[in-house]
Amino acid sequence: MTTPASAVSGHPTASPQPGTGRCPAGAGRSAVPLSGPGFHTEPHVVYRAMRSEHGPVVPVELPGEVPAWLVIGYRELHQVTSDGELFPRDVGLWNQWGNIPEDWPLLPMVGRPMPSIYFTAGAEHRRHAAMVGQALEEVEHFELRRDCEELADRLVDGFCERGAADLIADFAVPLPVLVLARLVGFPDADGPRIAEVLGHLADGGPGAQEAHLRFGESMRRLLAARRASPGNDVTSRMLAYAGEFTDEEYVLDLMAITAAGHLTTADWIGNSLRLMLTDDQFAVALTGGRHSVAEAMNEVLWEEGPTQILAGRWAARDTRLGGRGIRAGDMLLLGLGAANADPHIRQHLSASGGPSGQRGNSAHLAFSHGEYRCPFPAQEIAEIIARTGIEVLLDRLPDLELAVPVPELVRRQSAFLRGMTALPVRFAPVRPTGDPS
Ligand code: HEM
Repeated sequence: MTTPASAVSGHPTASPQPGTGRCPAGAGRSAVPLSGPGFHTEPHVVYRAMRSEHGPVVPVELPGEVPAWLVIGYRELHQVTSDGELFPRDVGLWNQWGNIPEDWPLLPMVGRPMPSIYFTAGAEHRRHAAMVGQALEEVEHFELRRDCEELADRLVDGFCERGAADLIADFAVPLPVLVLARLVGFPDADGPRIAEVLGHLADGGPGAQEAHLRFGESMRRLLAARRASPGNDVTSRMLAYAGEFTDEEYVLDLMAITAAGHLTTADWIGNSLRLMLTDDQFAVALTGGRHSVAEAMNEVLWEEGPTQILAGRWAARDTRLGGRGIRAGDMLLLGLGAANADPHIRQHLSASGGPSGQRGNSAHLAFSHGEYRCPFPAQEIAEIIARTGIEVLLDRLPDLELAVPVPELVRRQSAFLRGMTALPVRFAPVRPTGDPS
């Protein structure tokens, strides 16, 4: 398989990192470059300026002057994601393929047509989605929670005697990988290796291509092992599903599940912990207010969703959207983060972009919408991993506090994925639980 590094899921890797330093809001009425520090430092400010300058559908420019539309209106995004016929997630329709060089930096993110849940459209996508959806649906939540507790405890054991940790590298990133590795059917001993491979993939650095090959190899071995000896895992359930799939399709779907789930869930954990550690309204979660953990996690899905921008959808024919003329084959980037802050649905949003009062309201678009959205059982799995992990961490280290001033906390330099690069904390050292498993 020669797929580019992160094209297994369409979720972008941590790179490429747009960063020309130009403020998109200052780009007049011409196409807005989708780059600049504002996207990761103050995205609400950038989107507000875009909205007043361009409206709900913004002409943007990707590296190499490649044009696209960024949909930032909640209603328009709802319209696009609800109409899978007019706006399929079908990269094969793209009218820019003739202008895209082999080394185009966003190619790993945009992907190419291939027989997986993430890169098929229409009936073919529904065939994959039915199989993957059922295999995820049958995940036993009680067992999943128990696995999360055990793996979270094990990670905390690794640093609890130090009195200091980086909650991103030591906890938020490895936890979803280890849980998902177990969920799809890897033996526990393979967990750290899978974590390492996915780490290289997410970096998007020089090791990414090699990591991608190893990732595919691991999945092929897993498929063979589960075929020979089925177990209670996602791979075995996919194999048992009534339907004809090739080995390549199984492997690509397994890669998509893992790649789509690990960094997004890690960022959900990291962004929620940051909110609890820095915002008084959510700090009560640190001192045992468990209801606040759920509230902080929901707030993050509105304000700091892991997937801020997603490529995307492609227009099947000429049409109009938000007052714009869209041509057949145009790319639409889903501005999930921006749409969540659309003033048409968000009278409560404070001018600073601070806590929004969206408690209990889950109509956010963090998981997207429509037939290509994040599968509902996957959303539940993400919620269980993130919530259980955070609860275990807070139970074990109840006096957790930031080890650096808030302005020193750095976000990933990406307009696409919102997450922290590090979250240094300190706490009174405690003994490991000594769970030998
Ligand atoms: C906070 C965590 C997560 C977020 C924010 C998230 C977000 C998303 C988004 C935005 C999409 C694309 C939807 C679209 O194109 O409209 C997606 C697709 C997908 N996600 Fe998630 N996801 C998360 C966790 C997970 C987990 C844990 C899994 C696996 C267990 C997963 C599996 C998938 C799959 C398989 C797809 C492709 C669905 C399809 O094409 O039908 N995701 N996710």
